[in-house]
Amino acid sequence: MPIPCVTEHQALWSAVDDYIGNTLIRQDYALEAALEESRAAGLPPYNISAPQGQFLHILVRSVNARRILEIGTLGGYSTIWMANALPEKGKIVTLEVDESCARVARRNFERAGVANKVEMIFGRALETLPAIAGPFDLVFIDADKQNNPDYFQWAMKYIRPGGVIIVDNVVREGTVIDEDSDNASVIGTRRLNEMIAAEPRVTATVVQTVGSKGYDGFLIAWVKG
Ligand code: DHB
Ligand code: MG
Repeated sequence: MPIPCVTEHQALWSAVDDYIGNTLIRQDYALEAALEESRAAGLPPYNISAPQGQFLHILVRSVNARRILEIGTLGGYSTIWMANALPEKGKIVTLEVDESCARVARRNFERAGVANKVEMIFGRALETLPAIAGPFDLVFIDADKQNNPDYFQWAMKYIRPGGVIIVDNVVREGTVIDEDSDNASVIGTRRLNEMIAAEPRVTATVVQTVGSKGYDGFLIAWVKG
């Protein structure tokens, strides 16, 4: 099936995200500074949007999460959104492979006052994951998409019964439905879905999203006891 061009709607989606940001979401200096620092340092603009950050924040509070695992720190923007939802003694372990991302993220955590809740582990996630101490109440996967099947297997190992696993960027402008795609991110996402479909412990769905980050979606998986 040909995938229609979605860019003609982008200005509207961004304007509505601005509207949501200006009406429902409180201004947070440290979160805005984190994005500004990320831009200034030349990090890719792959951070989640503010409405998506608020969504993750609400999810963390809804499941009463105390321990979170994040795969893919980038500049730490999503990390801060989730850390702000944790109780004082809560912890978010976040994995990053890129040195300049890690440097920017560390400064952003300090400025946001969440450094005491964040443990950043530097290195290739597939190499650092085996040594991490679980369990976690929530796992957020937002790194290189071709490795999503492996990241999900690790998430299943570390998630507590009744925990939630979120995966970013699983719709990819609709290209996820292209079964003949040679795009590594699409292939990784489709393998992830096949793996989940075959996993009886998981109840999952995808919420499609539009907004300042284009047309994409979150996978949300609940893991049985
Ligand atoms: C890309 C990665 C992301 O995590 C995202 O949210 C958007 C884009 C990317 O690698 O292109
Ligand atoms: Mg992402």
